[in-house]
Amino acid sequence: MKNLIAIDDLNKSEILSIVKRAEVHIKNELKVTGSLEGSTVVTLFFEESTRTRMSFEMAARKLSLGVLTFSKSTSSMTKGESLRDTIATFESFGVNALIVRHSSAGVPKQISEWTDLAVINAGDGAHSHPSQALLDIVAFRSAIKGEIPNIGSFSRKDPDDFSGLKIGIVGDILHSRVARSVARAFSKLGGEVILCGPPTLLPNFWQEFQMVTDLDSVISEFDLVMPLRLQLERASGGFIPSLSEFRHRYGLTTDRVEKIKDSALILHPGPMNRGVEIDSLVPNDPRALVNFQVRVGVPTRMAILEHCLKRDYENE
Ligand code: CP
Repeated sequence: MKNLIAIDDLNKSEILSIVKRAEVHIKNELKVTGSLEGSTVVTLFFEESTRTRMSFEMAARKLSLGVLTFSKSTSSMTKGESLRDTIATFESFGVNALIVRHSSAGVPKQISEWTDLAVINAGDGAHSHPSQALLDIVAFRSAIKGEIPNIGSFSRKDPDDFSGLKIGIVGDILHSRVARSVARAFSKLGGEVILCGPPTLLPNFWQEFQMVTDLDSVISEFDLVMPLRLQLERASGGFIPSLSEFRHRYGLTTDRVEKIKDSALILHPGPMNRGVEIDSLVPNDPRALVNFQVRVGVPTRMAILEHCLKRDYENE
């Protein structure tokens, strides 16, 4: 069993192995496979989710895994049972993997230290969201390889190497686990990552990437632009003057997308605050991959489950 807590658990070759396995599942139209039959995963989501939870559960079923859905509000945690005892209960059932989302950074890592079951981080606080970054790579590669009808007008010589590509992640970087995972994942494949946002939402502890506060000065350079959801639930206020000011300076508005290269791609991890970090019509732009990102969530998470449950697919 392997854990997937953060992108840094994977080297470049492991990232590409998972991504290419996801591409096999896409090519096979998510054909059901039975090789993991008999294993069981549990989804433990202590924070709301639509895409991640549903796509992990669908991915597990495509792999013939058993799926248990844990809900804190209907569990014995409401009677005071601890998280550690809850994990021990699942261990006793004989399940194989725990897929964990939590609003506090570090919970999946803590769980992984309590158990020998595989632990997959489905998003923890502002720390990490590795499966999102991997599916973003799958979506981006499909576009640059010209595999999505009408999207992606630039051809890359080598989709395994993002060197020479500029990746712009824009907005609420400080509170974003997606930013942390996407930046690490794309840079491991050679991409140049630029983080852009108001000074109050750029983490000053993160020196690894170039940080820019003037979006309009750099947006025309980006090959990929990813506006992030402004995380009002994590920000207690005081980070931006107003939503309209944020939109004016950092929103992917219909006017601002005119400045993006014709060949560039627009990704948003979702859920979107339409009219804040992205205008309502922008996801319909021919360069936008927003719906495609969701579509590749299931095959990517199939590949992640296979990776963590040690499915040997190298010879298939
Ligand atoms: N992108 C993402 O994590 O979406 P959900 O919160 O709906 O899972």
